[in-house]
Amino acid sequence: MKKIIIANWKMNPQTAKEAIALARGVKLGAKNIKNIEIILAIPSIFFSVVLKTISGSNLKIGVQNIFYEKNGAYTGEISALQARSILANYIIVGHSERRAMGETNEIVHKKLKLTLESGARAILCVGEKEKSDESFPKIIRDEIHTAIHGIKKQFLKNLVVAYEPIWAISSHGMGEADTPNNVYEIAILIRREFYRILGKKIAQHIPILYGGSVSEKNAAEFVSVGNVDGLLVGGASLNAKKFTAILRDVSKTKS
Ligand code: PGA
Repeated sequence: MKKIIIANWKMNPQTAKEAIALARGVKLGAKNIKNIEIILAIPSIFFSVVLKTISGSNLKIGVQNIFYEKNGAYTGEISALQARSILANYIIVGHSERRAMGETNEIVHKKLKLTLESGARAILCVGEKEKSDESFPKIIRDEIHTAIHGIKKQFLKNLVVAYEPIWAISSHGMGEADTPNNVYEIAILIRREFYRILGKKIAQHIPILYGGSVSEKNAAEFVSVGNVDGLLVGGASLNAKKFTAILRDVSKTKS
């Protein structure tokens, strides 16, 4: 399975000029990397300038959120089909920062369904709020079950799951990354859960990523020791040098 690395720019940078410069820096630094699917999940307002900047490169764009209805009078929102129509191949669904703004498991489910039906790949974020003693926190199981409930199996081949323990996200509290060993264990449990719900044929193709304070110092270890299929990178993706160092290190890992 080709590794997947997603840059989640969140609500950054503040100007189109900076967005172009950042995209250009990543484009240059990533140009020889062939074994990773690289996605820039950018603010929607920058789509056109960033698309132009990365044209002809190995970078793809993604969106950080869509609305949970198909279309209509929802001022300020964007739909899954609109995102697809401007060539966004990936849509992040259920990021913890959106859940913190009131997005329930039920809303996440609606967004996931619309995303998958649009033909985009969905990055479904799951993760517990606090460090937990449970080996497989119930909250993760609930998030997975509610999100995929009732979605036709044929659509789930485009599902990607990102394990993002909220306590490990850089903007949250200590912003201290999880350990690769813990990520290894949780990723196995998440995979096992998908095998149980969906059967091997579909579940074996669902990539599992890790996100939470990923940096150029720990990225390769998360992939090699944590044995995940890729990474979701927030803060470090806003610096082209750091982000491309992550890409280079991960591209050299085995597995
Ligand atoms: P971080 O963010 O890498 O800055 O911790 C990750 C995320 O929120 O997706």
